[in-house]
Amino acid sequence: MKNVENQSQVLLEIKDLRVLFQGRKKLLPAVDGVNLSIRQGEIVGVVGESGSGKSVMSQTILRLREHESEVQYEGSILFDGQDILKLPLASMSKIRGNQISVIFQDPLTSLNPVYTVGNQMSEVLMLHKKMSKQEAREKSIELLNLTGIPSPERCIKQYPFELSGGMQQRVMIAMALACEPKLLIADEPTTALDVTIQEQILDLIVELNKKLGMSVLFITHDLSAMAQLCHSVRVMYLGQIVEEAATAELFACPSHPYTRGLLSCIPRLDTDREEELPVIPGVVPPLTDVPVGCHFCTRCTLADEKCREEEPPVTEVTPGHKVKCWKYGQTEKEKEAVQ
Ligand SMILES: Nc1ncnc2c1ncn2[C@@H]1O[C@H](COP(=O)(O)OP(=O)(O)O)[C@@H](O)[C@H]1O
Ligand SMILES: [Mg+2]
Repeated sequence: MKNVENQSQVLLEIKDLRVLFQGRKKLLPAVDGVNLSIRQGEIVGVVGESGSGKSVMSQTILRLREHESEVQYEGSILFDGQDILKLPLASMSKIRGNQISVIFQDPLTSLNPVYTVGNQMSEVLMLHKKMSKQEAREKSIELLNLTGIPSPERCIKQYPFELSGGMQQRVMIAMALACEPKLLIADEPTTALDVTIQEQILDLIVELNKKLGMSVLFITHDLSAMAQLCHSVRVMYLGQIVEEAATAELFACPSHPYTRGLLSCIPRLDTDREEELPVIPGVVPPLTDVPVGCHFCTRCTLADEKCREEEPPVTEVTPGHKVKCWKYGQTEKEKEAVQ
């Protein structure tokens, strides 16, 4: 997908964001200096293995973590010019579900099992949009229709458990769209679904983005979903964005060893390429063991002493393509040649 959104205005701008949980001995940096902006109408993808901080970052945009544990923030999250981190929690309800909506991996955790789909949707519309019961019912049907649910009139009378996983996720999306949000955060929205249903939900998100012009922050650990959907991609590892580029550029010229490793996990026909891209050894370290220098150094086959001691700067390799690595672009073969 082309990066067609370069001219549009920035809607969300995350600057130097750190999210620190209080651990037993020290503060744990789940998000560690993230800069990320999303333009109006843009679909931005964030990809990374489990434990890289994708959910903590996206939930911080909605301040969803505060009731759960002791958490400290640094930096800012500007949404429509206003810093979300400085808002009193009480005023988050004006933003949450209203201007920014979210869909999670498991729709059942977000749908209320004891109310029908119609009741849940109407409640949102009556509360936020001040609609009458009849208006809310009509709007609910319209929204369910938009998400491709075959018989919305029947669906509104059903309880969530009566629907298939794909239908539940469509209902979640319909609810997320109820207030015409400017930004939709989709955190692994298709991970729990069958492959064919996954495709349909991804297509739906693209279609709604085109039709409604809403921006999307799409979070996944699946790079092929990213290619299908996103205008630009951020690769996240252990709380940091390690590479950022327009989607086509990232796939054509992955520069960070971590990105190359992630890409090598996608089956491809081009075998020469496959040889060059190493699979990533090991697992993401826990937050109690974040490396001092480059966060990826413990798993990187190119890492040397400098990587282990000094945090790499962010380098712009070509306009809009940024990478946080001392060895960016270097391959295994080049490393051997140097030695
Ligand atoms: N309340 C919490 N207290 C301490 N650590 C947490 C808390 N919530 C999440 N984490 C840690 O933050 C890191 C990032 O988690 P998460 O954002 O869920 O990763 P991802 O969504 O990329 O899989 C993980 O190491 C996780 O254990
Ligand atoms: Mg997650």
